[in-house]
Amino acid sequence: MSDAITAAWAKLQNLPHKTLSSLFAGGDRLAKLSARLEWGEGDLAAGIAFDWSKTHLDDALIAGFEDLARLADFEGKRAELFSGGVINISEGRAVGHTAQRGYGSDAAVEEAQALHLRMQMLVEAIHEGVLGEVKHLIHLGIGGSALGPALAVDALARDFARVDVHVVSNIDGAALEEAFAACDPATTMIAIASKSFTTIETLTNADSALKWLAQNGVSDPAGRVVALTASPAAAVEWGIDETRILPFPQTVGGRYSLWSSIGFPVAVCVGWEEFAEMLAGAGAVDQHFRDTDGAANLPLRAAFADQYYSRLRGCQTRAVFAYDERLGLFPSYLQQLEMESNGKSVTASGDPVSGPTAPITWGGVGTDAQHAVFQLLHQGTHLVPVDFIAAIAPGDCLDPVHHRILLTNCFAQGAALMTGKDNDNPAQCFAGERPSATILCDDLDAATLGALIAFHEHRTFANAVLMGINPFDQFGVELGKTIANKIGAGGNKFDASTESLLSIAGLKQD
Ligand code: F6P
Repeated sequence: MSDAITAAWAKLQNLPHKTLSSLFAGGDRLAKLSARLEWGEGDLAAGIAFDWSKTHLDDALIAGFEDLARLADFEGKRAELFSGGVINISEGRAVGHTAQRGYGSDAAVEEAQALHLRMQMLVEAIHEGVLGEVKHLIHLGIGGSALGPALAVDALARDFARVDVHVVSNIDGAALEEAFAACDPATTMIAIASKSFTTIETLTNADSALKWLAQNGVSDPAGRVVALTASPAAAVEWGIDETRILPFPQTVGGRYSLWSSIGFPVAVCVGWEEFAEMLAGAGAVDQHFRDTDGAANLPLRAAFADQYYSRLRGCQTRAVFAYDERLGLFPSYLQQLEMESNGKSVTASGDPVSGPTAPITWGGVGTDAQHAVFQLLHQGTHLVPVDFIAAIAPGDCLDPVHHRILLTNCFAQGAALMTGKDNDNPAQCFAGERPSATILCDDLDAATLGALIAFHEHRTFANAVLMGINPFDQFGVELGKTIANKIGAGGNKFDASTESLLSIAGLKQD
């Protein structure tokens, strides 16, 4: 870390700590700390409102973080992200997820469009019945090859699904059995989603899915398979016909791959137009992130708040509560995005980091979470910055009272966390001063979901730049896989505890 960056952090650290109530007493706080991201025009305009006024960000902190961003070369790194520079240094790769949405180098955007066209043709052929009747799709993948599709299908296909999609990730056979039980083999397609096409969980599940088709009277199980991968050669070697592979570029990271052919189940489920809308919503955020400087750049501003709580206030976790049943999988999606990207101990140049990196992301849905974990948020000893996410338009057709209660609870929680309440009985005291940000979508349609996800991708990138780390590799997941392989291969010795567990479970191999 350069001396200038160390000094910028020290300056931030030394700023006087102000209370939320004193910050609100200061006047035009709401105008300064709320913003709206919009896309579309006229009657078609839609957007997301952000309110950071209940966080501790103020002019001095924002100026300090803007300084830090300048010293960390935020603008240079962002330019490289969009122009195809090799910013994933440890893997020697450019980073291509924004190109999937139309924002990247000309060559990367062109390649993405050609691959999307191929995917669109297949999706439309399925909908037109060219491949026979397809009622169900079992999507097999894990991590980034499953979390995005699962989130998008769950968020967008509650009212209407053109094809019934089941996303199965876990190697636990109970997960796959559940999908089998819900599908008719005669009308089921299998998507095998794996960037590397080496992931044991996905390939084992794929094997079992093909057997299930064969055992249930499907004469050509391989003819029901589509592979979604950045390693087509590995897919061919595994036994997939070349014509049944929808490839995507290696530059698209697993947890950033929803926009590529990994999004195939989403397009099959909700239709190509909706998938394209999701890309367009994400693209609107790309454009904002690429072209907006300083704290007016909303993902960067969110990262300022994240860094403030994590590095300057010592918060080890951050919580995200979606007050919308359709975003029930959003916290799990964010966990991979943020923790796999920024859970690192060394900087991009390999030096030890000088402070904490990604906090632990956790969360749930409101109002359920209020009756389970909010006690700790209100009266526990941990300071947990919270994000509330909600949509103004309801996702249900019931009496509007449901949505009114949902939203009022969401807003009430933010107010209660901030203001607290005195009481003579200490057990009933609420200290207040607990920060939250609110992200309020006009509606939760495909474009908004795309925008919401892209906002968090860029927020994650902005955090990484401020911390000086590479968010695009994930070597931390390798060691456990290697040991599992060694155990599977047999003939290796492990520590006494692992040996004993293997022996108790009857898995000891000599
Ligand atoms: O185990 C972590 C990971 O490498 C993720 O980064 C990735 O999204 C997931 O595994 C699945 O990998 P693949 O798409 O190559 O099967």
